[in-house]
Amino acid sequence: MSINILAIESSCDDTAAAVIQDGCVLSNLIATQSIHEQYGGVVPEVASRAHLSHIVPVVDGALKQANVSIDDIDAVAFTRGPGLLGSLIVGVAFAKAYALSKNIPLIEVNHLQAHVLAHFAEAPKPSFPFLCLTVSGGHTQIVLVKDFQKMEILGKSLDDAAGEAFDKIGKEMGLPYPAGPHIDRLAEIGKPVFSFPEPKVPHLDFSFSGLKTAVKYFLEKQLIDNPDFIQKNKHDLCASIQDRIVSILLNKLYKATKEYDINQIAIAGGVSANSGLRAAFIELGKENGWDTFIPAFEYCTDNAGMIGITAYYKYLANDFVGQEVVASARV
Ligand code: KG4
Ligand code: ZN
Repeated sequence: MSINILAIESSCDDTAAAVIQDGCVLSNLIATQSIHEQYGGVVPEVASRAHLSHIVPVVDGALKQANVSIDDIDAVAFTRGPGLLGSLIVGVAFAKAYALSKNIPLIEVNHLQAHVLAHFAEAPKPSFPFLCLTVSGGHTQIVLVKDFQKMEILGKSLDDAAGEAFDKIGKEMGLPYPAGPHIDRLAEIGKPVFSFPEPKVPHLDFSFSGLKTAVKYFLEKQLIDNPDFIQKNKHDLCASIQDRIVSILLNKLYKATKEYDINQIAIAGGVSANSGLRAAFIELGKENGWDTFIPAFEYCTDNAGMIGITAYYKYLANDFVGQEVVASARV
């Protein structure tokens, strides 16, 4: 008999639901909240309200697309954290109510662990142990993945996350939120002619706030004599910013591979959708004989498929939670 898991993800501004059967993703739906664009960032209270109106149609859509009925679900999984508390609460409350009404088990999932395990949604899948550079809007981490349950954070950002750096620098340039994909697109025909500093951070940790400040001061200085500077140089500016973010990330990842002597290397999270990072990562992998793993685009940015995949391995390990579980902004 097959195991069907309904997975819910609501940690930030996307309401997502997926159905996973025996570890395979049958459906993976997302309702994106474009309402935040006008504010230049996610407004938590607006996000919670949008989750409330999206969650029922998104779950309904995921069940229909998977051709699975409400009664065929064996367990409900949800993101417990980290994320925006109000947003998480909507998903947690929905999952608890569903599990209670159907008398089926509940599975809590750590959002960051799920970004890593997104690599198990489709072949090729890395083998254990592997290193994963998780780069999202809220986190930047190098993780040593020992198995589905055991992961160790080897290094992390001491301030802004890589995605946050893309978004904040993009905002400085007048780009819409989230700026990461816009910078990626504009960088395509640009050249990295502007040189921004690489921070000196010990060991495998990262820092991006210095880069953000350096770009801000550089732009302010240029705009004094040339008010059209950003408009005229947007492609080269984006290429230069992207190039520096990518080199900061990959220099540390390279260091970790040497230190831990591992050649199964993965990237995950929203920023792993970046074409500059993907290309440079593959290139570095070829030079060093790594087996490189990059999720398909739909599994890079926030999605419920990765929550369901993580939950499937927790289901096999009998790792369930009771109705007393609550959302946790920081896990
Ligand atoms: O993993 P994710 O969807 O959500 C979080 O868990 O935070 O990551 C969102 C982040 C945003 O900062 C967004 O700008 C960035 O991923 N992002 C990108 C690209 N696509 C998404 N950054 C650079 N290039 C992209 N193509
Ligand atoms: Zn995420």
